[in-house]
Amino acid sequence: MSKFTMTRRAMLAGTAATAAALGAPALVHAQATREFRIGMITPPAHVWNQEATALNATLRETSNGRFGSAVFPSGQLGNEAAMVQQLQTGALDMAWLTTAEIANRVETFGALHAPFLVRNLAHAERLLQTPQVQALLEPLPQQIGAVGLGFAMTGMRQMLSRDVTNTLADLRGKKVRIIPSAPIRDFFTIIGLAPTPMPLPAVYDALANGQIDALDMDFESVINNRYNDLSRTMLVTNHHMFPMVGLMSARVWASLPPADRELVRAASRRHLDRTMARFVAEEDDKQRRLMGGTMQVRAAGPEFFGDAVAQWDRIWAPKAPILPELRRIAAAF
Ligand code: BEZ
Repeated sequence: MSKFTMTRRAMLAGTAATAAALGAPALVHAQATREFRIGMITPPAHVWNQEATALNATLRETSNGRFGSAVFPSGQLGNEAAMVQQLQTGALDMAWLTTAEIANRVETFGALHAPFLVRNLAHAERLLQTPQVQALLEPLPQQIGAVGLGFAMTGMRQMLSRDVTNTLADLRGKKVRIIPSAPIRDFFTIIGLAPTPMPLPAVYDALANGQIDALDMDFESVINNRYNDLSRTMLVTNHHMFPMVGLMSARVWASLPPADRELVRAASRRHLDRTMARFVAEEDDKQRRLMGGTMQVRAAGPEFFGDAVAQWDRIWAPKAPILPELRRIAAAF
């Protein structure tokens, strides 16, 4: 122990004793709260943001005030690709990101966006909880420099269009906004549309000014962003699920003692699991709300898309070797 440390300690002890004797507050403070910054692309009203915001209270409670968190919504810190880079350097502590973004870096995540892999959100929740899907989280530190804390999801994806849509032919050649992600781009290319990648915060203006004709979107985001005000048709296709993964920078993770890592994982899981449960419970009501407006809402099943599923699987089975297994598991539910 250095002379400086001894002297400083003795000085602090003496100061605290004097302060206590005088009835003044001691200079020795409780440990400050370490606040983890969580980046998200979704706006404050989204269920993801509500649960990420609630994570702050859970972290504070389970760590006796040592940890907390703060949400940066709506891509304030940049798009999802930029947030992955910030996780890698440790500039960002945590992010709740779409698996669509992760699929751009780890192709096997593309299997989670396979068309018609699951029928509905209850089915999606079950699939995401299987050991086979959970195992995708393990190599993430080596693959993207971030630890996978758990999965959640937003709603099943539907198709909205500015004009009335009756058949797939009505959409051929039209610009459909997609999240920037290769598996989703391939699906819309196969069915003859012109996929136009753009991050979520840019979508409303692009739809309003006619830069895009159609959307690949879920009920929650349609309601939050009022895309229904700008669309004449919503085809309820449920054509793919849209998972999310809670991530922590591997660098930040390495700076935590093992017990604190498990505390952060458990707190995050609580809110990721709640996110999934809320989507399952609230999806039908969201659809009912959207059916009450001026937008025409019509069901369209896999037959609407011809042989697109088989074509997509031919492209993605070699890139995402887990795909046949996931199709087998999901079909058995
Ligand atoms: C999207 O970019 O379409 C999206 C991203 C996150 C949640 C919901 C939608």
